[in-house]
Amino acid sequence: MTTRILALDQGTTSSRAIVFDLDGTILGLGQHEFPQYYPQPGWVEHDPEEIWESQRQAIFDALRAAGIAPGDLSAIGITNQRETTIVWDRQTGKPVMNAIVWQCRRTAPMCDELRAAGREDLVRSRTGLVIDAYFSGTKVAWILEHVPEARRLADEGRLAFGTVDAWLIWKLTGGRVHATDATNASRTMLFNIHTGEWDPELLEMLGVPASMCPTVVDSAGVVAETDPEIFGARVPIAGIAGDQQAALFGQACIEPGMAKNTYGTGSFLLQTTGHDAVASHSGLLTTVAWSIGGERTYALEGSIFVTGAVVQWLRDGLRLIAHAEDTEAIAAEVPDTGGVVVVPAFVGLGAPVWDPYARGTIVGITRGTTRAHIVRAALESMAYQTRDVVEAMAADSGQRLAILRVDGGAVRNNVVAQLQADVLGIPVERPKVTETTALGAAYLAAVGVGAVAGPGGLRDVWQLERRFEPTWDEATRAAAYRTWQRARDRARAWVEA
Ligand code: G3P
Repeated sequence: MTTRILALDQGTTSSRAIVFDLDGTILGLGQHEFPQYYPQPGWVEHDPEEIWESQRQAIFDALRAAGIAPGDLSAIGITNQRETTIVWDRQTGKPVMNAIVWQCRRTAPMCDELRAAGREDLVRSRTGLVIDAYFSGTKVAWILEHVPEARRLADEGRLAFGTVDAWLIWKLTGGRVHATDATNASRTMLFNIHTGEWDPELLEMLGVPASMCPTVVDSAGVVAETDPEIFGARVPIAGIAGDQQAALFGQACIEPGMAKNTYGTGSFLLQTTGHDAVASHSGLLTTVAWSIGGERTYALEGSIFVTGAVVQWLRDGLRLIAHAEDTEAIAAEVPDTGGVVVVPAFVGLGAPVWDPYARGTIVGITRGTTRAHIVRAALESMAYQTRDVVEAMAADSGQRLAILRVDGGAVRNNVVAQLQADVLGIPVERPKVTETTALGAAYLAAVGVGAVAGPGGLRDVWQLERRFEPTWDEATRAAAYRTWQRARDRARAWVEA
């Protein structure tokens, strides 16, 4: 039978499903958006049943497009928006409330308290993370504190916690399997990345009973089979990874030192560090890149909360542009931003400054400022935030990044890709298969069912589409970066804690 792998890519704004063959060729694709809920400023929720429904529809659209039935699949790989937290009742299978999304800031005060109680070193040494509302741990604690009866049900062992991968596995197996992989676990602030186990001290610190936690498995390997009543066939679920780790894998960043940046709602720059969990002293995260054959590979990560979303804001918030694609031509109307800097700190700032109280700002406006300057400055903000992370990586590793591989919607825009090379002063490489997240998940599943030997196979699948060489001179680059840093610092600590 031809090997066909279905990758489920459950993202922040849409659920996608892609059928691949082993060459990385896309045989069929389905995509469904689902609603976002903003109950209060800074709060973000999803309905887990809507996530599941949109994912189900995407699966069947992808299979239809590929002209195959569920039983023709060799394996399923799952990749997902990370950190987003779902708590459900094992008996009824119903979530106790909406999913609290990774972007949600509701637990920022709880994080302040943990920091004030001196817990930062504990968290960093065990999990590789900083204390931030971004991660799942404080979200679970919030649910247990605020949902009536949740604490009692949790103490009785009835509640299950999971990131979106665990929720999808639960659904696909008809509630038989409660599991997550090490990459997703590494984003919870409850998982010891060095031992590969849930950390009793951190569970205690946040009041989360161990009974709520999913079993942690490898990123490649058969975890379960789908329930034929639900899926239409028994298919092994054989690959799982958080979406950014899957993209790192899909970009074939296998060797230590290789790095990719994915430009979605936000951007997540990950650099593979091999079997060493390199600790950051510069505001980056240490995270599990993948776990294969019981062996963990690690990465350094810079998580930037808003990059592509700034273009959506130009379109839907400011109504400055009609379509996201228009930014390329509009930005090209001017040679530079005329001194305008946009800092899109809409939900605070992530790496490397971690300031939940920063807010967006535009500085440097003059009477001569036009729409084109603002659009260009918004695009540049993606490149400068990325540079902040690349600087932090150089400080941590003692080595400057040689090449950055890029993917995601925003870098289909040639102006953005070129700006990124100019701002960083290194080549930027864009691959032919830009569905790197789904490809990574499919490849993990292929490794999981033994259809390919190991990560190495990806090297032959990855192909360069275009390389962007830096064109700015050093003085221009340095001066422009200083201006960005000054603007960014003005956005910091804007709202009162
Ligand atoms: O950490 C959050 C990240 O996994 C979300 O990715 O692509 O759904 O915006 P995306």
